[in-house]
Amino acid sequence: MALDSRFLAELKGRNSIVDIIAPYVQLKRNGTRHTGLCPFHGEKTPSFTVFEETASYYCFGCGAGGDVITFVMKYQNLDYMEAVRYLAERSGMALPEEESRNAAYQRDKRQRMYEMHKLAARFFYSTLMSPSGKAGLDYLTNRGITRESIVRYGLGYAPDSFSALKDHLKSKGYSWEEMLAAGLLAKSEKGNTYDKFRNRVMFPVFDLRGNVVAFSGRILGDGQPKYLNSPETEIYTKGNCVFGLHLAKNEPEGTLILCEGNLDVVSLSQAGFTGAVAPLGTAFTKEQARILAKYAKAVVVAFDNDSAGLKATDKAIRFLEEQGIPVRVLQMQGAKDPDEFIKTYGKERFAMLLKSSKTPVEFQLEKLKAGMDLNDTAMKLEYLRQAVEVLTGIQSAVERDVYVLKLSRELGISSDAVRAEVEKGIKRKKAAVQRKEIRSSEQEIAGTYDRVNPERAGALRAARAEELIIAILVRHADLWQLAEEKLPPEQFVTSFNRRVYEFILSEYRNEPDAATPVFAKAFDDKEMARISFFINTSVLHGEPEAQLLECVEIIKSEGAKRVDTGALTPEQLMQRLQNKGD
Ligand code: CTP
Ligand code: MN
Repeated sequence: MALDSRFLAELKGRNSIVDIIAPYVQLKRNGTRHTGLCPFHGEKTPSFTVFEETASYYCFGCGAGGDVITFVMKYQNLDYMEAVRYLAERSGMALPEEESRNAAYQRDKRQRMYEMHKLAARFFYSTLMSPSGKAGLDYLTNRGITRESIVRYGLGYAPDSFSALKDHLKSKGYSWEEMLAAGLLAKSEKGNTYDKFRNRVMFPVFDLRGNVVAFSGRILGDGQPKYLNSPETEIYTKGNCVFGLHLAKNEPEGTLILCEGNLDVVSLSQAGFTGAVAPLGTAFTKEQARILAKYAKAVVVAFDNDSAGLKATDKAIRFLEEQGIPVRVLQMQGAKDPDEFIKTYGKERFAMLLKSSKTPVEFQLEKLKAGMDLNDTAMKLEYLRQAVEVLTGIQSAVERDVYVLKLSRELGISSDAVRAEVEKGIKRKKAAVQRKEIRSSEQEIAGTYDRVNPERAGALRAARAEELIIAILVRHADLWQLAEEKLPPEQFVTSFNRRVYEFILSEYRNEPDAATPVFAKAFDDKEMARISFFINTSVLHGEPEAQLLECVEIIKSEGAKRVDTGALTPEQLMQRLQNKGD
């Protein structure tokens, strides 16, 4: 059952968009508009705008937009109902009866999933510590993992049995369905269920509140797959979890060390580098970068010392810098990963590596230089060309100059010459960006990449009038009856705008006191952004009623034109052709 309009209208009324966003984004007021740096993409000049009048926000940089519910969903990573519950609790409202029963059921289901994971983690841990866990304990001991680390990370052992965990959880009152849904059991072709993790060392994955939400199991010795991971479930989304962050987030220095593997994390923290985290069975994601940025003052990337690791490093740098967080890169020689390095050379040497970690620019330059013979003139020029390209990406002029001087010294070329090349490169880049902006705004006008409202391009005049009507109705709820009378929804030319219009009319019909319609319950992310864009950028002038009627005329005449010129559905066209045949 959907939440009723009255409840949502009140919810929106009690949670002003500015109040909700202000704790997360530093906003500057300008009339009824507030601007700040967009929390959804990295930017240096504010294009994120909150509109009090329409109770919505829009980022002119990345196109994110919506209302207070959309914001909470996106920022706090909640689903629609969770966001509603959050806002309701915050403003002391009780959820309507029926909905809360359903929500309670969902909550209970999730709660059981958490409980089941906790029980499983305890089971794996106590098995590891029992005689039947000897194989696992031997493995960890051989790899130098101490008891203390085992306890700290809650490591365990899944016995070599098809039903040990299944029987254990069954005795605690969990059904096979629940275990299957949690990814703890697998199902054979014949339909039999059995323990998914067998004869593996188990790494529980914790969320930031300290709940176990998944497992990663390493095979003892060689074999495939080396790591077996939980699937995504109601409580676990891969790209949103960072292994070890539940502990590393308390790192007093605030510097996190991002490495590739679970064992790297455990080894590093055992050696005293307690800021260690890892992306966990996936490539590092933007979302993970966003989460790290919340907890870290700086991140040192310490991926494996191989070509895959170098590539992954580039991506991690990009994602982290987008979040505005200082990044450094740690490079190892003589070991493939931090775990191996510490084992071979000791923690003091690792501390030195950490100290001498490179800035991303130094890292890029060194990567370029590797394998180039700078005594060879042609290669030297090629290196200069590529290095200049790297320097053009640096925002700060001072920082850029540091590298200009370094490069000039290194290559024995005057700093003026290097600087001139860099300036030229920057100009070239700016021109390219401008060309791209012009192209994309042309495309937007032509509507060639409009997925939300594909009909818009072919009916621009009508669509603009439709959007203006919507913008007026969002601000002037009292005009909805007039609008409906003069312009029934069928007359809308584009079907997306028609859907928005129908929604507004029904909202106002159900809840005449609503301040603004609660679009978030009926429109997805992209649609919310579009609505937010046009309700805040359509130009309103003069008397709203007069302007509304003007728009009605435009839509009617555009609609009539379209019928005349044969903008018909295939069915209508067939009909028409057949009639002509008669
Ligand atoms: N990984 C995975 N599935 C695999 C291999 C790797 O999910 N089949 C993930 C694991 O999270 C692992 C990380 O990728 O920790 C890094 O993999 P790799 O470098 O191969 O493993 P190490 O951490 O070095 O593991 P070990 O030291 O135990 O060999
Ligand atoms: Mn390793």
